[in-house]
Amino acid sequence: MSKNFKQIVPGKISGNVFDLIGEDWMLISAGGPENFNTMTASWGTAGILWHLPVAICFIRPQRYTFGFAESSEYYTLSFLEPGNREILQYCGTRSGRDTDKVKETGLIPLTTANGNVYFEQCKLVIECKKLYADRIKEDSFIIPELIGENYPKKDFHKFYIGEIVSCLVPE
Ligand SMILES: Cc1cc2nc3c(=O)[nH]c(=O)nc-3n(C[C@H](O)[C@H](O)[C@H](O)COP(=O)(O)O)c2cc1C
Repeated sequence: MSKNFKQIVPGKISGNVFDLIGEDWMLISAGGPENFNTMTASWGTAGILWHLPVAICFIRPQRYTFGFAESSEYYTLSFLEPGNREILQYCGTRSGRDTDKVKETGLIPLTTANGNVYFEQCKLVIECKKLYADRIKEDSFIIPELIGENYPKKDFHKFYIGEIVSCLVPE
């Protein structure tokens, strides 16, 4: 039987963002239930901006997910229950261009009230409505060493600042 999810306010998210994103990793998904893609991410943040609760994710332009993020009004951040590291490894090393990640991993897609995809395996879902997006710019680095370390191919991320419109956790 499928798990039920309930809404919580962002302030009630348990765990801290450094562990949730940086250590446990998340899936960034964009697109509708019939046509979406998902990829693993370990860079990102969440907080308050423009008086709103926001989450920010960073997607390199060569990712298949990038096109979905560009054309979608929303994106979701899915945090999986412990024990799903293999799924995250798979979705972080294979492209949806040439694999069916859902079929290969056993991820079970569910849909939010806004028509966005998350997964039954989630312990937390953050659903975001895009507010602002821009590319990381080479000439904006104050510490240029960061460029060589993180962008040897100059494939600068695009970042998406999204208003957190819902947080879902298992009931
Ligand atoms: C732990 C981990 C973290 C990652 N974080 C990011 C990230 O924050 N941004 C990004 O663009 N790619 C990140 N990646 C790489 C993508 O997940 C990977 O290239 C993926 O295969 C892209 O899939 P797609 O082509 O289906 O979009 C990460 C990969 C791993 C394994």
